[in-house]
Amino acid sequence: MRLIVALLVDFVLWLGIDIFSSGSYTSHPRRDSNKTLPLCVVNDDGLSCSYNGLCVRSNCNTQETHCLCDPGWKGMYCEALDLVPVANGSGLQDLLTQNRTSTWGGSVLFDQGVYHMFFSELAHHCGIHRWISHSVVSHAVSAGPEDNWKFHKTKTLLPIFSHEPIVTRDPSTGELGLFVSHYPHGSAADDNDSTCHCVDGSTSSALEKRCIHEPGLGHNKTMYTYFTTAHQPTGPWSPLQSLEHETPEGQKRFDLNFAPLILPTTNRSLSLLAWTRWDIWTATDWKNPHTYVRQGPAPNFSNPHAQWEGEDPSLWRDSKGRFHILSHNGPRGIGGPEGDCGRHLFSATGQAGSWLAAPLPLGGCAFPRVNVSFVDGSSRTFYRRERPHLIFGPHGRPAALSTSVIDSPVGPGVPGFQPPQRDASYTLVQATHTGRHFDSTASEKDSC
Ligand SMILES: *[C@@H]1O[C@H](CO)[C@@H](O)[C@H](O)[C@H]1NC(C)=O
Ligand SMILES: *[C@@H]1O[C@H](CO)[C@@H](O)[C@H](O)[C@H]1NC(C)=O
Ligand SMILES: *[C@@H]1O[C@H](CO)[C@@H](O)[C@H](O)[C@H]1NC(C)=O
Ligand SMILES: *[C@@H]1O[C@H](CO)[C@@H](O)[C@H](O)[C@H]1NC(C)=O
Ligand SMILES: *[C@@H]1O[C@H](CO)[C@@H](O)[C@H](O)[C@H]1NC(C)=O
Ligand SMILES: *[C@@H]1O[C@H](CO)[C@@H](O)[C@H](O)[C@H]1NC(C)=O
Ligand SMILES: *[C@@H]1O[C@H](CO)[C@@H](O)[C@H](O)[C@H]1NC(C)=O
Ligand SMILES: *[C@@H]1O[C@H](CO)[C@@H](O)[C@H](O)[C@H]1NC(C)=O
Repeated sequence: MRLIVALLVDFVLWLGIDIFSSGSYTSHPRRDSNKTLPLCVVNDDGLSCSYNGLCVRSNCNTQETHCLCDPGWKGMYCEALDLVPVANGSGLQDLLTQNRTSTWGGSVLFDQGVYHMFFSELAHHCGIHRWISHSVVSHAVSAGPEDNWKFHKTKTLLPIFSHEPIVTRDPSTGELGLFVSHYPHGSAADDNDSTCHCVDGSTSSALEKRCIHEPGLGHNKTMYTYFTTAHQPTGPWSPLQSLEHETPEGQKRFDLNFAPLILPTTNRSLSLLAWTRWDIWTATDWKNPHTYVRQGPAPNFSNPHAQWEGEDPSLWRDSKGRFHILSHNGPRGIGGPEGDCGRHLFSATGQAGSWLAAPLPLGGCAFPRVNVSFVDGSSRTFYRRERPHLIFGPHGRPAALSTSVIDSPVGPGVPGFQPPQRDASYTLVQATHTGRHFDSTASEKDSC
């Protein structure tokens, strides 16, 4: 069976037929005329295919190789998510409802047939520029693909200031950890009176003139990572606990972008691995702040394919135990693959100094920000598309991508921009291709 699959691939390639873009495999090797791009390496356990596939020989008579990507992935190095056009209204689009509320991305957990999203929401109908003074954390649910990935808010869980939630499950106990950036005494802004009252989800609609700018972090205020635990995604959630103890070098920490992953307790020396946009952290007991240790930058800078990671990470572990990061990186508002778009990084161990990216500029685009296709045939370019989180379905495979977006192609620095900026934002969910059957766990590594 394995051999037949591999032979079929070789045969089809030999005939020069492209079954990949429409058929049963997720990837087609771009027959790239750019000879400077390295070919993938067979029998490397998928390392040169970003740990999202396996490298095979394209033809038994040549040394040419290509990546066969796992479901949900595509690209020359399986560095890109294999996304379908966005269903209209998918995700959490609360700007066009009577609610007129901006949201800023969500972390999603599948539990007993329901997708639970934990997301940042901007209070008082303001936009994402007021995140430091207005962000709260809320919960929403979806039936997933059967409901076009529409999410429905249930309630607000954490007050101002709570931001960038990430939910993760302890694989040993089933317990949930919800990690957020938090300031426990209300607005974390430097304004003396930082509460604004907006109208349409954008900050420029504020009734108070002073509310036009993006506030900074207030004097003597902090944005530490906190966490809360629950046994069900619907709660009840425990009181927030600070991870402040684990920051020996400074009083103030802000916008930690803390992206945790709780690991099975089979390895007692490691209970949690996290990435904060700058550094890898580990903990031997994820519930004990005193066990958190900063390990240093994630990328392996001694490798020429190392890339700076970008911002807004999320982290997962694949079925073979390798570690993956999604982030966004690149100059904001600039088009093309070297502008800001999704980035994918990968590592066999997750350790600091071990993370790599595909050998493309900035590691390639894991998901686009420009010309995003919608099912109605339209396409949209977002000024910002950030906070990527993969949504895993019942089979543990990537089922969809959740991101925050500003639905305007222009912003400061982009030609055509006129102030005031509309910073109204929502949470977009875009499904991956499903029903494709190649799986690197079941394939022949090299049939020749
Ligand atoms: C998509 O949704 C928007 C907002 O609800 C609506 O204005 C638009 O007509 C919809 N487009 C289609 C093709 O349904
Ligand atoms: C709008 O707000 C109402 C009341 O809070 C809520 O029931 C509804 O789900 C919200 N709409 C969306 C799209 O979340
Ligand atoms: C806050 O109040 C102080 C003291 O009254 C004043 O000096 C400062 O300018 C105010 N800051 C802002 C942002 O309004
Ligand atoms: C700063 O915060 C610390 C700890 O909460 C507090 O003891 C101190 O009084 C604060 N300082 C000012 C100037 O607010
Ligand atoms: C357990 O964790 C330690 C510390 O990160 C790591 O060095 C070691 O390789 C891990 N062992 C296994 C079997 O995963
Ligand atoms: C986006 O689409 C426009 C119009 O088709 C095209 O001119 C532009 O090159 C595209 N940009 C990218 C980055 O693909
Ligand atoms: C970093 O890359 C170098 C060169 O490829 C390699 O020898 C080394 O083992 C890597 N370090 C880690 C921690 O993976
Ligand atoms: C060829 O590959 C190099 C290295 O990744 C890249 O910088 C360059 O833009 C590529 N050229 C073309 C025409 O794709």
